[in-house]
Parts: sequence; C-alpha cells; structure tokens
Amino acid sequence: MVHYGHSNQLRQAHAMGDYLIVGVHTDEEIAKHKGPPVFTQEERYKMVRAIKWVDEIVEGAPYVTTLETLDKYNCDFCVHGDDITLTVDGKDTYAEVKSSGRYRECKRTQGVSTTDLVGRMLLMTKTHHSNIDKNSDYQQHTDNFGKGPKGHSPWTGVSQFLQTSQKIIQFASGKEPQPGDTIIYVAGAFDLFHIGHVDFLENVYKQSDKPYVIVGLHFDQEVNRYKGKNYPIMNVHERTLSVLACKYVSEVVIGAPCAATTDLLDHFKVDLVCHGKTEVIFDKDNSDPYAEPKRRGIFRVIDSGNELTTDTIVERIIKNRQVLFQGVNVLA
Ligand code: C5P
Repeated sequence: MVHYGHSNQLRQAHAMGDYLIVGVHTDEEIAKHKGPPVFTQEERYKMVRAIKWVDEIVEGAPYVTTLETLDKYNCDFCVHGDDITLTVDGKDTYAEVKSSGRYRECKRTQGVSTTDLVGRMLLMTKTHHSNIDKNSDYQQHTDNFGKGPKGHSPWTGVSQFLQTSQKIIQFASGKEPQPGDTIIYVAGAFDLFHIGHVDFLENVYKQSDKPYVIVGLHFDQEVNRYKGKNYPIMNVHERTLSVLACKYVSEVVIGAPCAATTDLLDHFKVDLVCHGKTEVIFDKDNSDPYAEPKRRGIFRVIDSGNELTTDTIVERIIKNRQVLFQGVNVLA
C-alpha cells in the first residue's frame, strides 16, 4: 500500500538532497520478498508519482539497491527508514550501499504501516477514529495510547497515530490562493487515499490553468454515518496527511460539512465545485449537498476514469491476507 508513512519518508528523503528519485519494485519482486502487493505495479507507479516530493520514479527497481543501481541513475546516496529490510534469504537489502557510505536513514512514522491498516480492517474496531465525544471508543483510544510497542494498543494491536501541528506544517503547501487562481472545492472521505482519488484529483486539477484545489474532508463520525461498519479506516488526521501529500492539492479543510454551503463557498471564494462519478451521499436531512453550487452554476461532475473504491481495496486486502494465511498454514 501507499500511505502517509511512505509520503513522510519521501518528504524526509527529499529534504536530504536536491532531487529525489524513487525506485518502485515490480509485483513479482514484492511477491517474492514480502508477499502479494495490494496494488499493481502500474497503480503504485502512479501513486508514488503523485506525491509532491517525488521528482522522478524508476519503474521496476531491483529489490536490493546496489552501487550499480545508484550509479545508473546518477544518485549520490539512497535513503531508507530506520528499520531493517531483509531479502527472502535474510540478507540486509542495503548492506552494500551502507558499507560504501552511500546510505542515509530517515525516521519511520509511528502508528502507521500496511500491517496496521490491515489490522484495522480485519479487527473491525473503531478505536482509530478521532472521536469528539467521550464515549467508550474514545476512552479506549486514550487508554490504549502509549502502552503498546511503537504506538500500538497492547490489547487490539491496532495503531494509534497522534497528529501534531508540526506534521501538518511539514505536509502543507503553505500557499495561499493568488489573484487569477481558480479555486476548486471537492469534498469526501478520501479514506485509504488511493489511485482512484489521485485520478480524480488530477482531472480536477486540469480544469484550470491556475488551479487551487481545496479538499474538504468529512469528519470520522460523518463518514461512519454514510459508510457504516468501522469506516473510515483512516481517521481525519491521517486522511489530512494523505491528501496533503498529493501534488494536486493546495489546501485541506479538516472536518468539512457534508454540504457545500453558502458560507463555505463564500468563505473560500470557491469558483468551481467538483464531484466524481461515484454516488453523491445526501446530507442528514436528505438534502443534496451540492444544491448551492448547482444553483450558482459552478458544479461539475469529473470522470476519474477509475472504478477503484475504498471498499474494493479492503476486499483486495482481505483476499490477499487469506492467500498469505493459507500459505502460512501450508508451511506450518
Ligand atoms: O468516496 P470518497 O468520498 O473518498 O470520494 C472522494 C471524491 O473522489 C468523490 O468526488 C468521488 O466521486 C471521487 N472518486 C472518483 N473516482 C474514484 C474514487 C473516488 O472520482 N475511483
């Protein structure tokens, strides 16, 4: 999966040099060393390209980074998080570049990993939600925090991420809209930020020569109202970082109302409101959330050309896990 933990790694790596080249492995290489990937290589190439700190990607990069690979792409050094990665034969994948001094380390983001996210999907718990009420989920979230290893709950094993203003600053564009910019507003859950979202935002971005794209993120309780189960899988803090890392996004509203209201449109001086071809979720009172932009004649449906949804990803993941678990059973 591609998540904000990866984006944070790429952000740190970019800050260590001038030009960041990201090597992305093929499906075959990942299946061999780590198990089946959730996204295909084509999807992952596109996802990584859409992260704003990435200057270039190398498709089908070898799993083990050698000096030859670094020289081939004219790289001074390579960067990896502060956890060790091993090949299928148990060797450190970065042994060669480490011994020749062409290796730098960045910090892993606590509280998120593909395994964590899969855990949330499988456990169906809601403790990762950012609840404003002191209900039992909130209590469990606060009780759990810090008691498990690396920001994990000792009881559920589910990760706990803590948002900070520093992290938001690091991820934010810091840009204000300039005169002549077209201010485009989109809203949604943007849960498990995926290639469908990227394709949508790319097409939204292309609606103007000078786009300023604002993404309104619905609060966890709101998403849970219309999606049910334990959705969203990522809480609003995590979704904020995922969306901010996308190069097509200028600003995020952290906890947007369901409807694009008069106040909201006037406040941000919105010129255009877009929604994809997915179903429009009606507000609590059954009203159309886009009634006001439609009345103003500034509403546009944008075709992402991509059918992927958060539900499909969850299905893919659960299927992959079943394949993995079957594999484990066979080995056992
Ligand atoms: O479902 P969610 O609220 O995350 O969607 C956010 C926006 O992305 C919506 O406008 C939706 O229509 C759009 N989208 C899309 N193509 C996809 C997935 C989402 O256009 N495959």
